[in-house]
Amino acid sequence: MSRYGQAGRIEMKQLRKRVLVTGGAGFLGSHLCERLLKEGNDVLCVDNFFTGTKDNIAHLMGSPYFELMRHDVTFPLYVEVDEIYNLACPASPIHYQHDPVQTTKTSVHGAINMLGLAKRVGAKIFQASTSEVYGDPAVHPQPESYRGNVNPIGPRACYDEGKRCAETLFFDYHRQHKLNIRVARIFNTYGPRMHPNDGRVVSNFIVQALRGEPITIYGDGSQTRSFCYVDDLVEGFIRLMAAPDDVTGPINLGNPGEFTIRQLAEAVIRLTGARSTLVFEPLPQDDPMQRKPDITLARTTLGWEPTIALEAGLRRTIAYFSDLLGLPLPETVSA
Ligand SMILES: NC(=O)c1ccc[n+]([C@@H]2O[C@H](COP(=O)([O-])OP(=O)(O)OC[C@H]3O[C@@H](n4cnc5c(N)ncnc54)[C@H](O)[C@@H]3O)[C@@H](O)[C@H]2O)c1
Repeated sequence: MSRYGQAGRIEMKQLRKRVLVTGGAGFLGSHLCERLLKEGNDVLCVDNFFTGTKDNIAHLMGSPYFELMRHDVTFPLYVEVDEIYNLACPASPIHYQHDPVQTTKTSVHGAINMLGLAKRVGAKIFQASTSEVYGDPAVHPQPESYRGNVNPIGPRACYDEGKRCAETLFFDYHRQHKLNIRVARIFNTYGPRMHPNDGRVVSNFIVQALRGEPITIYGDGSQTRSFCYVDDLVEGFIRLMAAPDDVTGPINLGNPGEFTIRQLAEAVIRLTGARSTLVFEPLPQDDPMQRKPDITLARTTLGWEPTIALEAGLRRTIAYFSDLLGLPLPETVSA
């Protein structure tokens, strides 16, 4: 509840929770806005449209309880809200390496600005952190207690270290200013509204397969990843925000099912019915070999675990991309 208190809000017959989502026009943010609106909240979506688009949230614009604000979180923001979900940050290497200094600023200055806002208005605040804080992990699967293996001067550091510093800021605001914080470490998530050209593996493979192009695998394809469908992840966000105040996280949210990149490529080819071949290219620097969340903490404290199997999630994502690209829906998906 904000510093203006429940009383003032009852007087105004305004009982909806006012929720700010930064990065709300992006892939995860747009699904989160949709879910928060469905639950009867008053949603303020803030985005600078670096990677997000109005198309992602166009279907929400008709609601009187949805508001869109163009704003860059590296600048202070003065609004009255009860909860903040801080998602603003480019998330794929192509985008976050485009302007690495701005990426670090978005994570660090963005966190400072949003934490300052939360402090001013007494709002609860959620941080979208990442499995990248574990770097190229020497422990597998990764529990929250693992401190990571990050190269602080490599090309991914602007993202990894920016997110690590944001976590530090969240916990210092919590200790120093008693802020009510929630930190989620998000593992690879996929689904409709992913950016078609951001080089992330699921969208890349689907777009290449739908276009009948060869599928590009970096390395020999034996590196593993876990893939969480977006609806499962958003459920985790909501549960974490609603959890008792001593549940600050950091808490891993992701799907522990582990697949090699080659298995993913083969599943996409099968589900799209494509004739794509596989082409192999060198692994980018600091690309982790394994990534898999240990979600014991999320299971025990939030009663949360993913429910959507990879094949079901891929079908929905393939349907989205075939529509986006104006290509026919593969029979294998519509069946
Ligand atoms: N998708 C995943 O698998 C994944 C995994 C780990 C962490 N995350 C985190 O979740 C969050 C959302 O990721 P996503 O996959 O939806 O990416 P996305 O790129 O689709 O969304 C990020 C959004 O933030 C906006 N943005 C970027 N810089 C901004 C700034 N300075 N001010 C205001 N808005 C800004 C972008 O325009 C975009 O709408 C990010 O913080 C990302 O680090 C995502």
